[in-house]
Amino acid sequence: MNPFIHIRRLSAAIVVALCLTLGAHADTPAQLLNQYSAQAGVRPNPEQGRLFFNASHGRDWRCASCHGEVPTQTGKHASTGKPIGPMAPAFNPARFTDAAKVEKWFRRNCNDVAGRACTAAEKADVLSWLLTLKI
Ligand code: HEC
Repeated sequence: MNPFIHIRRLSAAIVVALCLTLGAHADTPAQLLNQYSAQAGVRPNPEQGRLFFNASHGRDWRCASCHGEVPTQTGKHASTGKPIGPMAPAFNPARFTDAAKVEKWFRRNCNDVAGRACTAAEKADVLSWLLTLKI
């Protein structure tokens, strides 16, 4: 067999295998909640999460400024006005299914809202509250 064709087939097989491995690793909101609670070492407190989400933390914006006070509906970016899909997973199945995306936005948004990273306990509280919001 022509060695170049062989190499092409081999690399195609590797790409397919990689996609399967990555695809198999989808996160769920429940898994992420377990991870944050384990890191925090305390049980998540949904009411605390609701308060955190709606409170001011010393900066101009609250989480609710962009995501809405009851984030079962489409939010609106506080400065650009762009729509933001609902945050509660029951109303938006794509939420909290990609750990890297979740971490990226927690980092950025907590910094905007509180001038620091959120703690694992705060992330667990917020996520546990969002999971109580049902259709
Ligand atoms: C200035 C506007 C703004 C504020 C304030 C804000 N967010 Fe966001 N947030 C966004 C945008 C924009 C996205 C990404 C767009 C999207 O996913 O729909 C996002 C996405 C997220 C995500 C990703 C969830 C996922 O799985 O898709 C999380 C988690 C999040 N925000 C949490 C928070 C928390 C907690 C606060 C308060 C500390 C907060 N946000 C405040 C604009 C904001």
